[in-house]
Amino acid sequence: MSSLKVAIIGLGTVGSGVARILTEHRDRIETRAGRPIEIRRAVVRDLHKPRDITLPEGVITDDVQEVIDDREIDVAIQLIGGVDPARQILLALLESGKDVVTANKALLCEYGDEVFAKAHELNRCIAFEASVAGGIPIIAAVGQSMSANQITSIEAILNGTSNFILTEMLARNSSYADVLTEAQELGYAEADPAMDVDGTDAAQKLVILGQLAFGTKVTLSDFPRQGIDSLELDDLVYANELGYTVKLLAVARIVQRQLEMHVQPTLVRHDRPLAKVDGPFNMIALEGDAVGRTWYSGPGAGQMPTASAVVADLIDVAVVRAPLTFRQLDLWQKTDPIAVQPAEEISRRYYLRFNVEDRPHVIADIADILGRNEISIASVIQHEAPEVEDISSDTESIVPLVIMTHRTTEGRVRAADAEFDSLSSLRNPRIRMPVSD
Ligand code: NAP
Ligand code: HSE
Repeated sequence: MSSLKVAIIGLGTVGSGVARILTEHRDRIETRAGRPIEIRRAVVRDLHKPRDITLPEGVITDDVQEVIDDREIDVAIQLIGGVDPARQILLALLESGKDVVTANKALLCEYGDEVFAKAHELNRCIAFEASVAGGIPIIAAVGQSMSANQITSIEAILNGTSNFILTEMLARNSSYADVLTEAQELGYAEADPAMDVDGTDAAQKLVILGQLAFGTKVTLSDFPRQGIDSLELDDLVYANELGYTVKLLAVARIVQRQLEMHVQPTLVRHDRPLAKVDGPFNMIALEGDAVGRTWYSGPGAGQMPTASAVVADLIDVAVVRAPLTFRQLDLWQKTDPIAVQPAEEISRRYYLRFNVEDRPHVIADIADILGRNEISIASVIQHEAPEVEDISSDTESIVPLVIMTHRTTEGRVRAADAEFDSLSSLRNPRIRMPVSD
């Protein structure tokens, strides 16, 4: 049988992994794809950059137009990150008659409507398993395996870099900055790691899952998004003391016929499966009205796990499973949209950490603001600071104060937070995280 001719657009962390699988496991992939796979072209930006993969002479190019113009290329594996020029390239690849496999969640989050509509119009397909949760087959789970259900809840750890940082900080007593550098070296982080640690990457993945699960188009500005970049080791230690692990949790669930959505560092009770997911691993807890609760976990970032999902998509295209699913299930269909719950109405318990002057009336002032905003305190931690010998000395004693609240709304907590600005006894940072019980 004639070979399936592919082009890899982007030969970085993931692209090199894809090339490795296709060359080192050629026979296995050929058997599963039903035909040989030929890497016809690999496109990079910088031809002189050293690569950890060797491809035959003439395969690597810095001109994507060579791929677009090559009518014999059947499938383009699009592994350039970001939106521009990835969007224009993807559209041109579809126009030139190629099916596309991609891992680019930033592009699908923002321009999913456009590129999926174009693929349908041209009778082409887009396979995107690697765009969410790396090596975990979650797109297949949400898009196909759960298709008998109405999904009612998604609670997930979707950013491997953040989960790696949170795990390592606590385990090794390390600083945030040291661990971030390590995550970059290990190939978990995006080209711009700010997207990982400020919650954007997890939010983009949640938008994709939300679209598949609820048929609702949500944009990033429609729901609260916060990253782990403002947290300190102290917060992880206090949460641990209270019986919780801090996770960057992405949530989309139906609550009173509205879609509650948020991505925030969240306290997760130690005994919950989500709390036990460490390092670059991801986990998605999915609830369907027929199946109940299911969990999917595995490596959510990194070269080979992501390449594993990309090559699986390629095999699906080769055996015509991907085009069939893409057309028949219409994975990106627009159904009656579910309204997104206003952020102020989201109801949870909260962890609040303050750095306070260690003097009379400070706790009373904080409690007064919480009380006036109808926020009830569940517990308080303030460890004793060393006694200052000379009470006339100017050295101020600043101590951490942690308050756990009873269930309240995001709106009340925001209102209280605005009032805390007026308290001269507080020092930055002020940390607040929701609790997932
Ligand atoms: P990466 O290491 O930065 O690689 C990007 C590749 O694209 C590089 O080879 C680069 O060329 C090439 N490139 C960039 N702009 C180009 C342009 N204008 N023309 C031609 N080539 C261009 O990124 P990555 O980590 O492999 O990620 C690729 C995609 O997979 C992204 O969308 C990312 O979000 C997604 N993803 C990554 C992971 C992960 O764990 N890394 C997991 C899931 C999904 P040079 O090598 O010459 O610079
Ligand atoms: N940078 C992403 C992460 C890669 O850390 O999860 C996987 O999408």
